[in-house]
Amino acid sequence: MSTCKYISCFSYKGGAGRSTLAINVVPYLAEMLGASEKHPLVLVDMDIDSCGLTYLFNLDKQNIKERCVQGWFHPKYSTMPVEDDDEIESATEHIMFRHLFPVGSFFNLKNEAILCLPANPGETMGSESNYDAAQSGSVNEFKNMCKDIACGVLFDSAVGNQLTANWSNRCANYIMCCMRPTKQFREGTNRFFDTYDTKARDKKIIIIPNVVPTDELTLDDENGETHKYPKYAKESIVRDFSDNRERSNNIYFLNLLEGDKFGVPKIDRFMWQEGVLRNARGLSELEHIALERYKEIASIIANS
Ligand SMILES: Nc1ncnc2c1ncn2[C@@H]1O[C@H](COP(=O)(O)OP(=O)(O)OP(=O)(O)O)[C@@H](O)[C@H]1O
Ligand SMILES: [Mg+2]
Repeated sequence: MSTCKYISCFSYKGGAGRSTLAINVVPYLAEMLGASEKHPLVLVDMDIDSCGLTYLFNLDKQNIKERCVQGWFHPKYSTMPVEDDDEIESATEHIMFRHLFPVGSFFNLKNEAILCLPANPGETMGSESNYDAAQSGSVNEFKNMCKDIACGVLFDSAVGNQLTANWSNRCANYIMCCMRPTKQFREGTNRFFDTYDTKARDKKIIIIPNVVPTDELTLDDENGETHKYPKYAKESIVRDFSDNRERSNNIYFLNLLEGDKFGVPKIDRFMWQEGVLRNARGLSELEHIALERYKEIASIIANS
């Protein structure tokens, strides 16, 4: 098996659509990485304050107290089951993997090919809320255990500089950088990565404008200048991240902004119900475009 890919689905602030993006990229990623019962794709809900993945999979209804991010990655103690047999080569025999929740059927794939470590809603990372006690010992242990067994680990990250966001981004080789195309989001995200760059090295950062409106609009900026959207917003993102790329130790992928492309479009059905678009029937033209983008993101990760 080729080495495990570690991916963080990150945004600099909340409501960017990370969880929805993550679950829609997952079925493509699972197929491209060859996820199987023996070498599954592992999803980790690192967003402990707003655990979207856990809710989407209805895992909050199960007894997850000992089988959750807070339990396993607590800086002072860990309930993560540690495998001590070095010979084990498959998830089906490995004690830690047997404690994860199978969720493949949610994607119409083999149930055990995708496993999830949920977050326990309402529980902090330890009794004294360890937001600055950044000891990531058990996260590294988890990462090492996945190395030869999982085909990939996708962290649904928390936002900005939160402790568990830093864990996700530090572990990751790939960062799916999810952003709304608003001015605040564009500028904030760019600034975040410009300073983050000095700490991170050799990360593959995929810039993903998300929930992008397709209607054309003319708006004035704070200097009274008039711009045409979506053209202006797209050009700003490309310009700012191209400058950022020049100064960076990381590799930026702007593939989702090439030619006519502008990230993942705003999809009406998601305004009512989050879900896996690939499973849905009667897709609109925009929804087909969204699927192409999800697939392209998976393919960047699988092939670079
Ligand atoms: N492409 C899209 N088109 C329209 N709405 C979308 C799209 N993607 C996500 N949304 C909507 O945006 C909202 C936020 O999405 P989601 O919960 O995935 O974001 P998040 O970044 O994980 O949020 P949080 O910061 O709360 O964890 C949801 O109501 C979701 O349905
Ligand atoms: Mg979320």
